Amino acid sequence: MPFTPKILAFSGSSRKDSFNKKLIAVGVAAAKAAGGDVTLIDLRELELPIYDGDLEKEKGLPAGAVRLKQLMLASHGLLISTPEYNSYFPPLVKNAIDWSSRPAPDKAISGLTPLADKVVGIMSASPGALGGMRSMLALRQQFSNVGTIVLPAMFSLARADEAFDDNGGLKDEKHRASVEKLAQKLVTLATKLHG
Ligand SMILES: Cc1cc2nc3c(=O)[nH]c(=O)nc-3n(C[C@H](O)[C@H](O)[C@H](O)COP(=O)(O)O)c2cc1C
Repeated sequence: MPFTPKILAFSGSSRKDSFNKKLIAVGVAAAKAAGGDVTLIDLRELELPIYDGDLEKEKGLPAGAVRLKQLMLASHGLLISTPEYNSYFPPLVKNAIDWSSRPAPDKAISGLTPLADKVVGIMSASPGALGGMRSMLALRQQFSNVGTIVLPAMFSLARADEAFDDNGGLKDEKHRASVEKLAQKLVTLATKLHG
């Protein structure tokens, strides 16, 4: 039976009209078409507080962090679309990574690095001319530091405020092709690594 890699996808912005939410939706469709079993989450729904060591000591991992660790552990790959805030990826993404890296008493999710040996495909979207490129580069380095294998190919969507049609699709065929290629590479590498 062919192996179907599980891919966890999220946008680094939870904003209702987020361009990164639109882009991740396009990426999710492409990853499914490429043969992945994709779960899309909204980080806002995890209700993660900003990481706080005292809170962790008193109450342990918040329910959202437990859920995130479970989802990461169950996945073979990740697909992310991140905004760029002041040339960096936003605290929503960093906070999710930080909480997911904390140990848990539950043996099933106790590992410090549910991200290790997973493969991640990174995209970004911004109304600006660079499309969030600097955010992607910083996120690349962050993932490397927690043992996640980052796909060499990335995709940044510049002028994101003009890039989508009314149905949330990408207007430019070249953009669509780039997302499809990235999704295919993600599914292929996750299969090679875990299949
Ligand atoms: C605090 C802050 C800093 C920002 N810094 C950058 C930046 O460095 N580069 C950039 O291209 N856009 C920057 N922006 C604009 C975002 O790209 C824009 O708000 C975008 O719509 C956010 O992504 P979203 O649509 O997915 O929410 C910044 C926005 C905020 C709120």
